[in-house]
Amino acid sequence: MAPLTTPTSAAAGLRLVPGFFDRRQQEELVVALREVVRRAPLYTPVMPGTGKPFSVRMTNCGPLGWVSDPHGYRYQPMHPLTREPWPPIPEILMRAWAELADYSAPPQACLVNYYGPAARMGMHQDRDEEDLAAPVLSISLGATCRFRICAAVRSASTRSFLLTSGDALLLGGPSRLAFHGVDRIVAGTSTLLPDGGRINLTLRRVTKPQDEAPQRHYTS
Ligand code: SIN
Ligand code: FE2
Repeated sequence: MAPLTTPTSAAAGLRLVPGFFDRRQQEELVVALREVVRRAPLYTPVMPGTGKPFSVRMTNCGPLGWVSDPHGYRYQPMHPLTREPWPPIPEILMRAWAELADYSAPPQACLVNYYGPAARMGMHQDRDEEDLAAPVLSISLGATCRFRICAAVRSASTRSFLLTSGDALLLGGPSRLAFHGVDRIVAGTSTLLPDGGRINLTLRRVTKPQDEAPQRHYTS
């Protein structure tokens, strides 16, 4: 039988903050994301090499956005289809990073993943960032999902637990490079999004901070 899992014991360095955003804040986030998606429409990325489409749809906000196409994975400053710069990261997310990330510099990328009822995310590492000292901050909105993570960076032993709307999850320290993925979305678990899907936001620092203004300048 698989070991019983509490999220904090699933992998060293992993931190779950259940219900970090209350319902009112989740609704505020959805409003902010509608504006992000209006300016940077969701699109279906494809895997490098195979060209196989992802089951999630994606967009980004922030100075940099994570993209996947036949040439590979990378960060770039503009939307791959509109060629426009990504819209800014909403203030409510910048504040969440300031509160939770315990890192001196602001995030540069916020990947927006939209999961329809049948979407999933295969096991992978977040390792396209030059700065691995910063955690990845992941926010869940809408339907509950079953999230899976390796107990160590590369381990045959995986653990899973549910992420629900408003939860914040930090992959930091030893868990920063742990393989992780989303097994499935649990239908009928949230009324936040009209069509019952799920949104995951991942905030990341991409480059190592140099002479940037400290983070307090980014928050009110
Ligand atoms: C990801 O790791 O890219 C997404 C994680 C999630 O949807 O919770
Ligand atoms: Fe990831």
